Amino acid sequence: MLDSVIKALIFILPAYVANGTPVVVAKLLPVKHPLDGGKYFIDQRRVLGNGKTLEGFLGGTLAGTLTAYVLEYWHMHTLEEGLILSLGALLGDLAGSFIKRRLGIKRGDPAPLLDQLDFLLGALALYYVFYGPIDPLQATILIVVTPVLHLATNSAAYVLGLKDKPW
Ligand code: CTP
Ligand code: MG
Repeated sequence: MLDSVIKALIFILPAYVANGTPVVVAKLLPVKHPLDGGKYFIDQRRVLGNGKTLEGFLGGTLAGTLTAYVLEYWHMHTLEEGLILSLGALLGDLAGSFIKRRLGIKRGDPAPLLDQLDFLLGALALYYVFYGPIDPLQATILIVVTPVLHLATNSAAYVLGLKDKPW
């Protein structure tokens, strides 16, 4: 079982890195460009909000892909898979914010489970499109473990002063 958990975590690591990197990128860069261009949707709310930036998206894609490239050295991943998982994670995160705005949840306010799973489901969905289904046990492990890890790492980022909110 522990074997399966470790295997699942190595598989999804590029997506985790892709999802975590924007927090650091946003903290480091003085100027950022919101992906929705500051635009409002037909419900008079922002399409995505200021929390989703071009810089975060590009930085996340790069870092996640690079992670897979490093893992490729030990034959644990391929760069191409890493790129797909990273893009999927970031697109899933955008979809999550789009849904949050439509529900009237302000940027940075919590949406339990959606905040923790949007990027994972995005990564698994895009992976599915390119490579077909992953092992159901692996998928189940990731859906259970990811929210716990996400809350733990976000609390750590909050304590370190990287994030304004501990979720
Ligand atoms: N971030 C970014 N670009 C992205 C994703 C994230 O710049 N594509 C940065 C933003 O600074 C964001 C932080 O990473 O505030 C944390 O991401 P997240 O928790 O997903 O965003 P929230 O601010 O909580 O916004 P939302 O309510 O839309 O989830
Ligand atoms: Mg959030």
